Amino acid sequence: MVQVPTQTILAPVVAAGATEGAGTLAGKGLREVVAGQTSISDIDGQAGRLWYVGYEIADLAENATFEEVVYLLHHICLPKRDELDELTAFMVEERDLSPLLQNMMPELAQQTSPMSMLRTGVSAASAYDPDGWDESREAQYRKALRLVAKTPTLIASYHRLRTGQEVVPPSTKLPHAANFLWMLLGTEPDPEDAAALDTTFVLYADHTMNASTFTARIIASTLADMFSAITGAIAALKGPLHGGANEESMKMFEEVGDPAGAEAYVRDRLERKEKVFGFGHAVYKTMDPRATVLKRLSREVGERAGDTRWHEIADAIEETTLEQKGLFPNVDFYAASVYHVLGIPTDLMTPIFALARMAGWTAHVREQYADNRVIRPGSEYVGPRNQRWIPIDER
Ligand SMILES: CC(C)(COP(=O)(O)OP(=O)(O)OC[C@H]1O[C@@H](n2cnc3c(N)ncnc32)[C@H](O)[C@@H]1OP(=O)(O)O)[C@@H](O)C(=O)NCCC(=O)NCCS
Repeated sequence: MVQVPTQTILAPVVAAGATEGAGTLAGKGLREVVAGQTSISDIDGQAGRLWYVGYEIADLAENATFEEVVYLLHHICLPKRDELDELTAFMVEERDLSPLLQNMMPELAQQTSPMSMLRTGVSAASAYDPDGWDESREAQYRKALRLVAKTPTLIASYHRLRTGQEVVPPSTKLPHAANFLWMLLGTEPDPEDAAALDTTFVLYADHTMNASTFTARIIASTLADMFSAITGAIAALKGPLHGGANEESMKMFEEVGDPAGAEAYVRDRLERKEKVFGFGHAVYKTMDPRATVLKRLSREVGERAGDTRWHEIADAIEETTLEQKGLFPNVDFYAASVYHVLGIPTDLMTPIFALARMAGWTAHVREQYADNRVIRPGSEYVGPRNQRWIPIDER
């Protein structure tokens, strides 16, 4: 594991002489703070490396299926064949939506944005969970797997309904990624497309203490239930500085329209002090290792589909952004061109991030429950002091 000697652990640090509840003031954004311990994933931001349970991300992207990664993140070891079969069978069984969700979906499809639908749908999924208010370890695990299993069905049903198409029931035969394409597009997916999508799920499945995972862990630390924690995580993911960046990247590709226009576009954006979405990272100071895999995937899916324009635009934006600003692409950048070529609408790209991250969120929530203390950092008061009450008519 990577040593981070200059950092502090958030909870126990209290400056000498500080008042009770106060501590050392962390920098804005808490970058230098280690907020807790985890066995799930680890990053070396300087070297551009990411591990799940000690397995390098490129190794997993090459070899693992999403279902194996779900098992890995929850059990902290790779599954044997019978263990994987058991997990897969349970998730396949749990793909259907509850009657409440099926009834809500037509309304949500007309009234809400995809991420708002997902936030509401996950919250509502608690109503029919067979484990109810049982908060045992076993029940929490089943709730976690049900959430992983149902998220693709929520997204695909929503999309079919909002576009006036029949909802496609989940397959009982196809793996997680292929089943999602099947439910979304209504045709048996090309195996290579399904494999590419599966790889993106593996890459998105976890990422240490990012904003949405930290949100989930904070909620779990109050001993609120799994559904509450995951609803909060989806809310945190929605913003363009976090999960929303893949959709913003795709909008940029469309605005650029042609690789030849990329350089001027990036220069204009930077002159206007606007962010180039899909670039920069709070932790990686070099190429995000997930972006390296996605860049290759983006070229491959483009070549297979005979549509490399989006990859070429992305490539040209990358070149200028690196040259102008020294910034490298993150996971969201090339994910956008992969998803676009696979036929996924732009506004479903962040929900798909959530679909994959569901594996990591639920694992982190269970890890938090297993060794919990309520997360409650201090704050530095900078407002006025020593004030005296003034009656309302004298103010
Ligand atoms: C990810 C992100 C929020 C990290 O933020 P951070 O660690 O706080 O980094 P900062 O915002 O402090 O960036 C440091 C400098 O680089 C600039 N910068 C960072 N990312 C940039 C981007 N994508 N485009 C243009 N400039 C960027 C900042 O403006 C800042 O410049 P300044 O010092 O002149 O003000 C930020 O890079 C970003 O907004 N990226 C675009 C959104 C995105 O892709 N998010 C997905 C993350 S996986």
